[in-house]
Amino acid sequence: MKCESLIGKIALVTGASKGIGKAIAHLFAEKGAKVYALSRGIQEVPFPENIIPTPCDITNGNQVSSSIEQIVKETGTIDFLINNAGVGHFAPVHQLEEAQWDEMINVNLKGAFLCTKYVVPHLLAKGSGHIINISSVAGIEGFPRGTGYSASKFGLMGFTDSLMKELKPHGIKVSVICPGSVQTYFGDTDPKDYALLPEDVAYMAYQMAAAPEHVIMNQVVMRPKVK
Ligand SMILES: NC(=O)c1ccc[n+]([C@@H]2O[C@H](COP(=O)([O-])OP(=O)(O)OC[C@H]3O[C@@H](n4cnc5c(N)ncnc54)[C@H](OP(=O)(O)O)[C@@H]3O)[C@@H](O)[C@H]2O)c1
Repeated sequence: MKCESLIGKIALVTGASKGIGKAIAHLFAEKGAKVYALSRGIQEVPFPENIIPTPCDITNGNQVSSSIEQIVKETGTIDFLINNAGVGHFAPVHQLEEAQWDEMINVNLKGAFLCTKYVVPHLLAKGSGHIINISSVAGIEGFPRGTGYSASKFGLMGFTDSLMKELKPHGIKVSVICPGSVQTYFGDTDPKDYALLPEDVAYMAYQMAAAPEHVIMNQVVMRPKVK
């Protein structure tokens, strides 16, 4: 199997200031891509030269559109969009705050829509490119205290499936990764020592990105091996 090289490719990774997004940004850069790392607080994070911190609130259409226009102005193209940014609030449904519900839908779902909306015209123009969405096992299974989070991730799965069917005829790949528990501080919870590492998810995103041109790795569910 001949894998594709990431050398010289342009990647946008959202939610890259920490956790899974940061691991994806580092791995893609290590493999030779120039990475634009998006998040609200990204400027606080030290990165190597080929990772460019790009402050952006992905729930704000104007900020997303102008960040993407700026990136295309600098690079001329985009090859990969990794929709990774996400937030989690976990509580029984009657205790979940309206603002927490709104934030999950806005970041996890609307944010992925906005980044996709403004990147896709550039991918259509060249008839190639790859969008990789980071969903969750919570995007295929519900769980107690996870109503809002699961709703946002099930929504992202529907978005991804429609997007895949819409963009495939134009030569654009769409993939989704559904990790189980990952060792980050997501949702203000402490990392569990048995959980997946952010680097495990990054490696899967890299494998999807580097798959031979004729192969679409569409959907991968990753779970920690726990006895
Ligand atoms: N950790 C897990 O167990 C797990 C399991 C399955 C799936 N996931 C998914 O994996 C993704 C990454 O999770 P993680 O564990 O790496 O989380 P994390 O460590 O909490 O990082 C979340 C990232 O999202 C960014 N972000 C939040 N709101 C944003 C906004 N409005 N605009 C731009 N960026 C924003 C944060 O940066 P700023 O605060 O600087 O904006 C941060 O970089 C999420 O989509 C999550 O749902 C996580």
